[in-house]
Amino acid sequence: MNKIIYLDAAASYLKPDVVIDTQVDYLRHNYANAGRGVCGRAQFTDNMIADARRQIADFMNAEINQIVFTSGTTDAMNMIAKMLNLSADKTVAISDLDHHSARLPFVETGANVVLCPLDVNFNIDISAVPYADVLIITAMSNVLGVAQDVAQIIRSARQKNPNVITVVDAAQFVVHNNIDVKKWDCDFVCWSGHKIGADTGVGVMYIKNPDSFSPVKFGGGMVLKVENNNIVLNSAPDVFEAGTLPLTQISGIGVAIQYLQSHRPDTDLIKYLYDGLSKIPKIKMLSCRDASLCSFVIDGMHVLDFGTLLGACGVCVRVGNMCASWIHELMGVSGSVRISVGAYNTKQEIETVIKYIKDILK
Ligand code: ALA
Repeated sequence: MNKIIYLDAAASYLKPDVVIDTQVDYLRHNYANAGRGVCGRAQFTDNMIADARRQIADFMNAEINQIVFTSGTTDAMNMIAKMLNLSADKTVAISDLDHHSARLPFVETGANVVLCPLDVNFNIDISAVPYADVLIITAMSNVLGVAQDVAQIIRSARQKNPNVITVVDAAQFVVHNNIDVKKWDCDFVCWSGHKIGADTGVGVMYIKNPDSFSPVKFGGGMVLKVENNNIVLNSAPDVFEAGTLPLTQISGIGVAIQYLQSHRPDTDLIKYLYDGLSKIPKIKMLSCRDASLCSFVIDGMHVLDFGTLLGACGVCVRVGNMCASWIHELMGVSGSVRISVGAYNTKQEIETVIKYIKDILK
């Protein structure tokens, strides 16, 4: 049996030991519910959440009350779509870079949907951003892996409508690039912890003006007091966090951020892979050499068959439409093979995978 080579960081990042150890230690020694007790463990948990929130705020150049814990990007996108309370007379601009989770919650509202055109390189065409009440920006496509110029796109949208609400899906962007919400000057940003080496089940929603929006989830932890029938809600961020938070996952997210600062995925490995794969005649590259990942299709072989053969060699990659149907449709393919790296991957692994791929396609 070959050694497993995990090249699917873009789907979910492998966890550094420090994240695993922190979570195990929390579960074993300090676990208790938050905001609901005065015992030592409850206080530990409250402090742990406050620390994680502060680390996330620093990481994104945001304020503490602008950081809301979610269960992930999909959860956040659904919350935002509900919070905006859109009607058919409102226009939402989307792009073909979108992941299903960035677009579907807004399409479901019944609002008028318009497309931001892409340029010849499949980047959002800054000169052609349409008028919108709400603009969804995929900061990095999970298929093409190129960072979009979010600040410029937002400036361009504001020229058409100074009041446009801007929503950034940073799920694929965050592991490779710093997020600076002040530079972007956006209204909302979402990302998922598991894409940076934290656990699944925890994500982040940044809200620029939290006091301008009402919660869409109701329950415990968001209520300040109840006097007869008068319910007074907490202020942000608690008001957006009804119910018990994913405590164990939160215990690991700050550590994951710290670790990421000095262990970013090495995109030189992607260039090396690109150079190797683009010499194989049956492979047609979809992503560019400078991208943060490699996507391609194979002449005469379905991507699922290819993924299965590579999987049999012990190599984990993603194949299919990656929940990003529109960009595949635009490129005239039904799916692709995606290879993505984390800080844990090595050049030797990439060399081995190029060899396996050559063997499969010879
Ligand atoms: N959105 C994740 C991916 O691109 C799951 O694979």
